[in-house]
Amino acid sequence: MASMRPPSKFDLFYLFLSLSILGILSFSGVSAQNPIFACDIASNPALAAFGFCNTSLDASARVKDLVTRLTLEEKVGFLVNKAGSVPSLGIPSYEWWSEALHGVSYVGPGTHFSSLVPGATSFPQVLLTAASFNTSLFEAIGKVVSTEARAMHNVGLAGLTFWSPNINIFRDPRWGRGQETPGEDPLLSSKYASMYVRGLQDTGDSDKLKVAACCKHYTAYDVDNWKGIQRYTFNAKVTKQDMDDTFQPPFKSCVIDGNVASVMCSYNQVNGVPTCADPDLLAGTIRGSWKLNGYIVSDCDSVDVLYNNQHYTKTPEDAAAITISAGLDLNCGTFLSQHTVAAVKGGKLAESAVDKAITNNFVVLMRLGFFDGDPRKLPFGGLGPKDVCTPENQELARDAARQGIVLLKNNKETLPLSPKTIKSLAVIGPNANASFTMIGNYEGTPCKYTTPLQGLSSVVSSVVYQPACQNVACSSNSLQLDLAKKAASSSDATILIVGEDQSIEKESLDRVSLLLPGGQTTLITEVAKVAKGPVILVIMSGGGYDISFAKSNDQISGILWVGYPGEAGGAAIADIIFGYYNPGGRLPMTWYPQSFADKVPMTDMRMRPDPATGYPGRTYRFYTGDVIYSFGDGLSYGSFAHHLVQAPKLVSIPLEDGHSCYSQRCKSVDLTGSRCENLAFDIHLRVQNSGNIAGAHTVFLFTTPPAVHNSPKKHLLRFEKVSLGPKAMGSVVFRVDVCKDLSVVDEGGNRKVALGSHILHVGTLKHSLSLRV
Ligand SMILES: *[C@@H]1O[C@H](CO)[C@@H](O)[C@H](O)[C@H]1NC(C)=O
Ligand SMILES: *[C@@H]1O[C@H](CO)[C@@H](O)[C@H](O)[C@H]1NC(C)=O
Ligand SMILES: *[C@@H]1O[C@H](CO)[C@@H](O)[C@H](O)[C@H]1NC(C)=O
Repeated sequence: MASMRPPSKFDLFYLFLSLSILGILSFSGVSAQNPIFACDIASNPALAAFGFCNTSLDASARVKDLVTRLTLEEKVGFLVNKAGSVPSLGIPSYEWWSEALHGVSYVGPGTHFSSLVPGATSFPQVLLTAASFNTSLFEAIGKVVSTEARAMHNVGLAGLTFWSPNINIFRDPRWGRGQETPGEDPLLSSKYASMYVRGLQDTGDSDKLKVAACCKHYTAYDVDNWKGIQRYTFNAKVTKQDMDDTFQPPFKSCVIDGNVASVMCSYNQVNGVPTCADPDLLAGTIRGSWKLNGYIVSDCDSVDVLYNNQHYTKTPEDAAAITISAGLDLNCGTFLSQHTVAAVKGGKLAESAVDKAITNNFVVLMRLGFFDGDPRKLPFGGLGPKDVCTPENQELARDAARQGIVLLKNNKETLPLSPKTIKSLAVIGPNANASFTMIGNYEGTPCKYTTPLQGLSSVVSSVVYQPACQNVACSSNSLQLDLAKKAASSSDATILIVGEDQSIEKESLDRVSLLLPGGQTTLITEVAKVAKGPVILVIMSGGGYDISFAKSNDQISGILWVGYPGEAGGAAIADIIFGYYNPGGRLPMTWYPQSFADKVPMTDMRMRPDPATGYPGRTYRFYTGDVIYSFGDGLSYGSFAHHLVQAPKLVSIPLEDGHSCYSQRCKSVDLTGSRCENLAFDIHLRVQNSGNIAGAHTVFLFTTPPAVHNSPKKHLLRFEKVSLGPKAMGSVVFRVDVCKDLSVVDEGGNRKVALGSHILHVGTLKHSLSLRV
């Protein structure tokens, strides 16, 4: 059957499901019925003779031994996600593909739920967790997810290699997968990447992995399907400057700071070259400059796509040769298992290149303990079903949602509502009783749900629920205004819970509009007109909306953005609305007006504005147009004040004698290596909680660099979240590294320290700092 569209992850998933129903495929490396474990010397003493089973040798010696024992045909079986078994060596098959974006997921054939483990803790979708700006939380979630993953692995329900997180920059508000990412800022995305990966992987011993994470999709990938333009054939045209100061930083941090075990290359081309076939991006940057200790995997099925859809090579053997030579180690899909032997036999690819690729794959499996026998006898071997969905883990899911939820409007301090005076509540809107919607995509079966209606009903006993529309599309003929208005006009307070779900934005579906779907705007406006008590608008969504109508409407007192808040989302929403928790989340992405979507093609990758054509640029770092809400926006109950205690006004940079910048005026200098050492200073701040309620506050340190090299108008240098009791004072010290933090990327993609006046901003505080040679 000739299909022009390559299989999506979901197609492969359903193919897998139907095959497994027929009993053709076996699950993950460990099968529950007939467990065969690689190098299980206890049950098969003959295996002790193999060097690769000898745990006294180091991983690289063991892998070397293993590779020499394999034929070319066997080797090629280790280039694909469903890795072949080698019975003569006692090696069972292994399924590389599992996912754990915000909890152990059933997307990906390596993991599934059963009566033994019916569900796992489902944390908020990543964009909401990112809104917490709490780096310890990112790691804490990763730790719980890896514990639950190991527990499931030990009973044969999960793999050890998880293709998460997604750390692409949320460049355009229409992107269907923006929800999966930590937002639009390179620093926040970098911190999220390294901290979540540590939580997943860390064992305290860098030679060992708890589970293996994977940062994806490398790189400049953020168009899925916009007005018919598909990710499978999209060529992202990216300048060197945007590449180095926007698209690459999260991946660099993931590899260098997070020490991730894998990076996934994307479907798209960057400047005419498919990322999975680009030797500069793979062998050059990831493995060469960043020194990846792990494997590079293709998206599913990027290699097939670059041959069959992009027609990038003449023959399938060329596609196999070009990707493996570029540095690809593993193919999600089957392409490399079909065409690599012919590529080697045809002289297009050296067998040593195949050896190198499978070596990278095997080393990761070694570090995971895959070749150490029965997993129940290994470190983490004691974990099992009892460690999944524990009360502590579920409480962390609720707390993560609370930490991320963003309060965008609170006229006359209407919120929090008092549980004492509000005796009746109208809970209205298509997401008012959302369950599955709350867990976003790349989800797993949750432990349980607390819907918004259930959360709110546990605080107020008299609740009227009116979904008002059939679904989030909220078509005008399904809109039931009268019932909704009646509920609002007779209740002490009205909570409108609207937004979207995966039918509006998801993988393979970008938005075209930034307005609330269908009749939602009418519903909100009409209900607000007749409501008896205060009206609180709750937006459950991935990307942001143009809600200027609600922002300016005095009949709407409060607005909350709750992302996709995870399994306990409804409890977290109730905690915030009724004041059991003081909100402190901040937007990790700009909310643009509809005019942005009308005039800016999603496919235009440029970050920087172009005044000549009216192109406004993208994200808070460059965008010049009006916004609905900005990156970093968010309120708390009560306010926080900042005081600058100490910061230098002048920093002098020592250059070698005779440097040309002494005689001529330079706008920036190239500073590297030893000249950068000790070139740092501290900024001391005091933060005060001026309110009467305890709360957590994120202190953002932004800088506006001098106007050289078309630099960002403002960018985030550091952030720190602090908890403060009522009226309490705290202090924050930011160490600023001149070379790293006060540099900008020039037009050629090189980092340069910008000379002149840097304006540091903390809240409304501004401080000018001059950098001179
Ligand atoms: C395992 O490797 C160690 C270190 O090289 C060696 O001394 C030992 O004999 C090996 N064990 C077996 C069973 O070959
Ligand atoms: C950050 O998250 C951790 C883990 O949930 C939590 O213990 C801590 O209180 C949070 N920090 C702040 C400042 O809110
Ligand atoms: C709300 O959703 C829950 C979970 O799906 C469901 O059990 C319950 O019946 C729903 N409540 C109403 C009033 O529809």
